[in-house]
Amino acid sequence: MANEKNEWGSNISFLLAMIGSAVGLGNIWRFPYVLYSNGGGAFMLPYFAALIILGLPLMLSEWNLGRYGGKYGHGTLGPMVYLQAREGAKPKTALILGAIAGGLAFAVTLLVNSYYNHLIGWTLGFAVSSFTGAYMDQSQSTADFFVGYIQDPKMVFTFWIIALLGLSFAVMRGVEKGIEAWAKVMMPVLYVFGIVLAIRSLTIGSPVNPEWSSLKGLNFIWNPDFSTLTWRSALAAAGQIFFTLSIGIGAMLIFGSYMEKDQRLFGEAVNITVLDTVVALMAGFIIIPACFAYGIEPGAGPSLIFITIPNIFAQVAGGRVWGGLFFLFLSFAAFTTLVAVFENIISFDMDLFGWSRKKSTLVSLILIIILSMPCVMGFNVLAGFTPLGEGSTIMDLEDFIVSNNLLPLGSLGYVLFCTKKNGWGWNSFLEEINQGEGWKFPAGIKGYMSYGLPLLIIIIYLKGYYDKFQPMGTKTLIG
Ligand code: PHE
Repeated sequence: MANEKNEWGSNISFLLAMIGSAVGLGNIWRFPYVLYSNGGGAFMLPYFAALIILGLPLMLSEWNLGRYGGKYGHGTLGPMVYLQAREGAKPKTALILGAIAGGLAFAVTLLVNSYYNHLIGWTLGFAVSSFTGAYMDQSQSTADFFVGYIQDPKMVFTFWIIALLGLSFAVMRGVEKGIEAWAKVMMPVLYVFGIVLAIRSLTIGSPVNPEWSSLKGLNFIWNPDFSTLTWRSALAAAGQIFFTLSIGIGAMLIFGSYMEKDQRLFGEAVNITVLDTVVALMAGFIIIPACFAYGIEPGAGPSLIFITIPNIFAQVAGGRVWGGLFFLFLSFAAFTTLVAVFENIISFDMDLFGWSRKKSTLVSLILIIILSMPCVMGFNVLAGFTPLGEGSTIMDLEDFIVSNNLLPLGSLGYVLFCTKKNGWGWNSFLEEINQGEGWKFPAGIKGYMSYGLPLLIIIIYLKGYYDKFQPMGTKTLIG
């Protein structure tokens, strides 16, 4: 297992796979909504700031740890625990800390998978429904269509199974023939679709009122009104960073375990954050101008993507094709993300139990199907169970556990592990991160990395709870 680096065909496809894992539903439906509800253009300021002070160092911590521990395996436990145990150099607390972070990463991976794979199914189902024009006839609203869709076992199961089979097929074929091969096709296509869709959206004339051109939406994004900037929007920006960059879950650590030591990691981290942001902005340029043209307020979560946007496609000329392209754009983004998450699970099994890739894939698939059942049933049999307040679903609960709890806590675990004496330790961290050519990691930020960053994460975490449970009502994914 020591030298599997060459499993990756080339640097560029490795990069594409990493971008594929970061770019997902977080960019396409979460970002435009968070941008809209936090003042539009002014939100970009804290967003970029959070990318730099939070996203980059956290991504680098995970990669660095993964690259160092890669010789022990590619799963999250490999670097975190085996590294300590086998080198025998660090105290017991390191083992415990490592096991907690490794175990947490595994749990969050399973949980993300158990609801995200349904969403891929939905996006595929909606791509087909767009091309066939299923939701275009005006006899029912797109809201009714969506509710009908998620309650129709035939539709839900068919596309869910297709998604699961596609994912299993990809990971079973290994890193190069599976993950990399898909990313090489899907990611360039995703960028092209994004550009085409953004141009289309920006050229929609408003059928409702000529004053509401889609360019107004553009203006909303690009002409920031800084008076809308609040602490709340700054924290919303920070919260978005964990999700959009998939940090705190170990997915980045696994990519790190495949990285060569001849290049410093800093430049690569900048590439990923920039390319991830480009897709988020593209999604903003697609969704917000179209909503402005039609005088519709972009809602949250699935209702934005599966109700509001289809409503626009149903009215726009050539809506079937545009809708089909849009949902393919989404399903590609979601697929390349989940393939990396699935790989995370498989690597864990391979490392821990010494199973073959095939066996790990099959066992994990069964586990995932079982763990996905609560989410499926939350829309039908268990619809009466509303864990986060009225109208909320099991999917909302799972998303809350992941986005508001496990990602920040996982990131906290990694950064503490990297910087504290009882973990890996700052000096070893620095020595590893500066191996190779390229931009050096600034040694002067030791204080920030050891104290400032952990504190920031704790604040974001607590604020997330406060927002969720304040009496103003709970925000749910649906509705
Ligand atoms: N980064 C992914 C997205 O933007 C979401 C994700 C988060 C995936 C955490 C894995 C882990 O959709």
